[in-house]
Amino acid sequence: MLIAIPQVLDAQQLNAVRQLLDHAGPAWVDGRVTAGYQGAAVKFNQQIDERSAVAQQCQQIILEALERHPHFISAALPNTVYPPMFNRYGEGMTFGAHVDGSVRIHPHDGRKLRTDISATLFLSDPASYDGGELQIEDSYGMHAVKLAAGDMVIYPATSLHQVTPVTRGVRAACFFWVQSLVRDDTQRSILFDMDNAIQKLNQTNADEQARRTLIGCYHNLMRQWSEI
Ligand code: NI
Repeated sequence: MLIAIPQVLDAQQLNAVRQLLDHAGPAWVDGRVTAGYQGAAVKFNQQIDERSAVAQQCQQIILEALERHPHFISAALPNTVYPPMFNRYGEGMTFGAHVDGSVRIHPHDGRKLRTDISATLFLSDPASYDGGELQIEDSYGMHAVKLAAGDMVIYPATSLHQVTPVTRGVRAACFFWVQSLVRDDTQRSILFDMDNAIQKLNQTNADEQARRTLIGCYHNLMRQWSEI
């Protein structure tokens, strides 16, 4: 399930993150520092040093926005969110086809985190750069994603994906992974659809007993499928 989530960051949050990144200077490092064996050969970009103060300031803004975003919570059912990271692609930079690593070490407490969901939060106005499309393959084919600044896409971390070369301007983005309460993408999709339907019924004068039953089914499926 590939889901675009609009306006994860409002204009003020977006501006704050961009200001921090624009003035991050030496905190920008070669993107290959965190790439695994497969990724390192195809990764040509820059990213913010995870241990830098600017990374932590930006992470705080993003994590606060995610925690309050019902659409993200409903779609991702997050157990643990890996501290968001930040990258940029100048002209000629690219990240070739790869699948993200399945397990990552949480940089703060050393916990192992299973990457169920990959997320990219776009930070640059799409009119300000050419190329830099995120291309994601799933069983329905290839999807090209290039969203407005502040919008985010989430997709199963099992997907093969790449960022096409930037041919003009700079593409900055935030990216991270989620260990979901529900590791299976199909089960997460069902729960997401069900939650959306319940939200719609809540807004209409739907039959109260039927609505209550459906909400019960949602929670009982969550109980069946979630891992904590
Ligand atoms: Ni990736």
